[in-house]
Amino acid sequence: VDLHVTLGRRGRLTADVYDQIKRAILDGRLRPGEALPPTRELARRLAVSRNTVLNAYQRLTAEGFLSGRAGAGTFVDGAAAPGGRMTGTSAPPGRAPRAPDRGALEPRAIFRDLARDDAHREPADRARAAYDFSIGSPDPELFPWDEWRSALLRQLRRRRRPGGYPPPEGEPRLRAAIARHTGISRSVRADADDVVVTSGAQQAFDLLGRVLVPPGACVAVEDPGYPPARFAFEAIGARVVPVRVDGEGIDVGALPDDARLVYVTPSHQFPLGAPMSLGRRMALLAWAERRRAAIIEDDYDSEFRFDGRPLEPLQSLDRSGRVLYVGTFSKTLLPTLRIGFVVAPPSVAPALRAAKLVADSHGAVDAQLALADLIDGGGFARHLRRLLRVYRARREALAEAITRRLGDRVAVLPASAGLHTTVVFADRRVAAAAAARAALSAGVRVDPLQPFYAGRARAGLALGYGMIAAPKIDEGIRLLARCLP
Ligand SMILES: Cc1ncc(COP(=O)(O)O)c(C=O)c1O
Repeated sequence: VDLHVTLGRRGRLTADVYDQIKRAILDGRLRPGEALPPTRELARRLAVSRNTVLNAYQRLTAEGFLSGRAGAGTFVDGAAAPGGRMTGTSAPPGRAPRAPDRGALEPRAIFRDLARDDAHREPADRARAAYDFSIGSPDPELFPWDEWRSALLRQLRRRRRPGGYPPPEGEPRLRAAIARHTGISRSVRADADDVVVTSGAQQAFDLLGRVLVPPGACVAVEDPGYPPARFAFEAIGARVVPVRVDGEGIDVGALPDDARLVYVTPSHQFPLGAPMSLGRRMALLAWAERRRAAIIEDDYDSEFRFDGRPLEPLQSLDRSGRVLYVGTFSKTLLPTLRIGFVVAPPSVAPALRAAKLVADSHGAVDAQLALADLIDGGGFARHLRRLLRVYRARREALAEAITRRLGDRVAVLPASAGLHTTVVFADRRVAAAAAARAALSAGVRVDPLQPFYAGRARAGLALGYGMIAAPKIDEGIRLLARCLP
């Protein structure tokens, strides 16, 4: 290990080395079996005599903290683990002592609030649910592990690489592949220069907010809507205004006059599910043109289209360069890849590249090139066809189970795409959050609609089929039915 030792005044050098190594062992930073630097090397690094280090090592060895193996070096002794016989403590390993925190620093209110309600955290109880209808996650079992492993290995085997930092907007091959793929599958009009690769859709919201919205300016979001997008806009200091969604999408008539940016999910409204009607799309574009505002079109899960003809994305209907089309591979591949993208009009793309550079220089290169291979080689399209088959079967199983088990207690909201189905209770007084809690104790995880609303929520549940295999769906819904009032 590269051991850091702070030396005090002369005359205490051996004691300093001794104390600090002992403390590192006791609090678990140095673990049993770990090798200490050779005395000569540590002495050279600390600019002290070798004897200083040697004496400290000898004392620690005599006390049982260290042990030496001839010719092999000096190691932390096995008995010196926290909780072991040397230490007599039961402190968990790996916790370094902290400087005292007297509350001197005050994080900004938005982050203090987020930290307090934990709204951004993955619920710890997900692992406990035997029947997991949580929304937002695809099935990791369906990920093309073998193809991905080969594609990544191919990248890792490339020995010669250009030096320096690659372009912030992402690898040219991936940008070209994304432009082609979204052009074919979603009729998005783009070439590689319009694409900026981001760390998931979430970074796209953050960067677009920074680029397009001055602090204090207004951003309109859907109500109900996707909370992490709202958090991103609030975090950059925007004034976020939730705007009502009806069966056709966001209520354009209710948009604040001064909104600089409108965030929408037109293919599959999050979380209610309805696609934005063509009329509403045209009205929103006309509004944005009149108000000189920008629109973020979050097309997060539209690859999963099960029936009906897809409506044109706002991006391809846009005639004045106001739409920022955001896509992600979090649903089609895995959220842990953290690869998303923006298709930006020429007036925004250069500033967006600059924002990406400022935020994190660029995304990880090997994964981008592996993904480009997967798309270019046809593996991604093949994978999507398979996903569509599997998720279609789950969606149908869910629809049947809802009809059979919940009957007219709920109404299914119309949707033709995505990875979840939303139901609302016929009896508006049903406490959906309490029902979801009761379901969880029966091993069934579902999402109540309430956290997605700014104000009063419709009583309902979002039921995801990304994480649950078809044969478990009916039993999960049967158990859920028993928890409903
Ligand atoms: C509405 C919506 N947008 C975007 C995303 C994807 O986010 P990311 O690409 O940051 O994983 C999700 C994922 O749950 C989502 O539900």
